[in-house]
Amino acid sequence: MIKLGIIGAMAVEVATLRENMTDLTVTTRAGMEFATGTLEQLPVVVALCGVGKVNAALCMQILCDCFGVTHIVNTGVAGALHTGLDIGDIVVSQDAMYHDMDVCGLGYPLGKVPGLDVIAFPADDALLAYAFQASEQTHPGHTWIGRVASGDQFICSRAKKDQIIQFTHALCTEMEGAAIAQAAYLNGIPFAILRAISDRADDSAEMDYPSFEAIAAQRCAAVLQAMAARLWEDTQR
Ligand code: ADE
Repeated sequence: MIKLGIIGAMAVEVATLRENMTDLTVTTRAGMEFATGTLEQLPVVVALCGVGKVNAALCMQILCDCFGVTHIVNTGVAGALHTGLDIGDIVVSQDAMYHDMDVCGLGYPLGKVPGLDVIAFPADDALLAYAFQASEQTHPGHTWIGRVASGDQFICSRAKKDQIIQFTHALCTEMEGAAIAQAAYLNGIPFAILRAISDRADDSAEMDYPSFEAIAAQRCAAVLQAMAARLWEDTQR
């Protein structure tokens, strides 16, 4: 049986999902809210983790150890790195890596966590396919599949954006995905990241982000709901 963990960093990213859940019970751990119930009949735990990599990893471990989730989707907004992306477009992760992990001084490539055998953590193919299909069903022609680059920084300068593109080749940037991906990788839990573009991660980001955050978050919520419906249907076959 699937129990889907859904992680969002900010209230705006999980509010609609929580409103649309049934049999809702909210528990708090490590200062984070975990809403257990069903979404489109699928058993889910919707977690509000707070911003950044440490919050995200903590939340992921709590979901594994205390809530017994079998699959994870990280949802929320992101800054575009690829020039072809428009605000509101959806990115589904092929994989995720850090843009701020730097142990180059000891001979490791930029992005590599010493001791792990991958630089980018691969998303689960089946979850990715469900996310892509749900996104195309909701916003046809606006779904991209590719790399997500994460770090503890809101990216709002052209120079920094260019640096990140150069070494990650990611489609978008945000602040939690790779930490969730690493924790999922270490726990052997399938994951995918689903992000809607809220800004262009350049000098316009500080202006755009507040205007588009809510719209982008809403888009992700709609996709996740369609995804939950499909996952539930398929478990009933
Ligand atoms: N989330 C949304 N936009 C972002 C940006 N520009 N940088 C980091 N995280 C983001």
